[in-house]
Amino acid sequence: MAEKSVLLLFGGGSTEHEISKVSSKFIRKNLKSIEGIKTYAIELTKDNGYIAEDGEECHLSFTGELIFEKSGKRIKIDYAIPCLHGFPGETGDIQSVFELSRIPYFGCDKEASQNCFNKVTSKLWFDTLQIPNTPSIFLSSSNLNELEKARTFFRKYGEVFIKAASQGSSVGCYWVTDESNLEMSVIEAFNYSQHVLIEKALKARELEIAVYEYDGKIVVTRPGEIITPENEFYSYEEKYSNGSNSVTHIEAKDLTDTQVSTMMKIAKKAFVAMKLRHLARIDFFLTSEGEIYLNEVNTFPGMTEISMFPKMLENHGHSFINYLKQHITK
Ligand SMILES: Nc1ncnc2c1ncn2[C@@H]1O[C@H](COP(=O)(O)OP(=O)(O)O)[C@@H](O)[C@H]1O
Ligand SMILES: [Mg+2]
Repeated sequence: MAEKSVLLLFGGGSTEHEISKVSSKFIRKNLKSIEGIKTYAIELTKDNGYIAEDGEECHLSFTGELIFEKSGKRIKIDYAIPCLHGFPGETGDIQSVFELSRIPYFGCDKEASQNCFNKVTSKLWFDTLQIPNTPSIFLSSSNLNELEKARTFFRKYGEVFIKAASQGSSVGCYWVTDESNLEMSVIEAFNYSQHVLIEKALKARELEIAVYEYDGKIVVTRPGEIITPENEFYSYEEKYSNGSNSVTHIEAKDLTDTQVSTMMKIAKKAFVAMKLRHLARIDFFLTSEGEIYLNEVNTFPGMTEISMFPKMLENHGHSFINYLKQHITK
């Protein structure tokens, strides 16, 4: 059988560029154990350039070839893995390029990615699917009228989360407990996105479920948990810095059977109805009053050595190498 050329794309233009590099190293390590494939690990720079490991610039043609600028080498790509968190992977942009170039690829398609990435769009989906989610409103500008809406919402709940609609990694995400910081945070969030979501701030546990396709079936794991220190949220620093005090549990403790099964059912419903493919990490809140809310769907969750998604998959009894192999060689 001819060797398959696999394009492993990492980096990208988002604030998660560096994390995606770390994720790609982990995926690369796993790909090494798969016979019959040759991996081309290519970094997508912040200004959309493609750079090979030896520093040579290259680009992807609309005929599905990776073309190296200096040597003129052309490689027909058989499969692509968009190991990109945020733009242009989770936003659905790179999937359009793959489709136009007729390259089969790993993960959700363009539309599903877009629907999940935009926090306003995904709320509309959750509501339509009758999936419980945190009470919220969204603003389309920071004019006086919209700021007044924000103030009214704040006064109703006393504490809110303000989130740029098209962002991840807690960038453009602010926890506001004092009304005097409200306006500033809304304006800040608009620096990142065209829409801003305002949510009731919850006192809640943060639970995550991995959903993926294995042996042709959709697998839903039990929830894992992220525990952040008291009075902090799962901010960019808590997620990625060495000084993070957050703790993760591959399987959350002290949940009732009903809570577990409710979350698993909702995760599967979202995966199926929103037409997700191959993988997703679906994040929940469990409030102190026992309400379960779907927070967000990540279509390319962290894939580092210590990330929840690969760990939950292995904990479920599956092999991550085998999982990648199934999709690449299908
Ligand atoms: N409504 C909320 N109540 C309490 N904490 C929240 C709320 N929304 C977000 N958070 C905190 O902020 C973090 C980031 O928010 P999230 O919506 O997951 O955005 P991102 O896409 O950046 O991960 C969450 O993991 C959680 O710690
Ligand atoms: Mg999140």
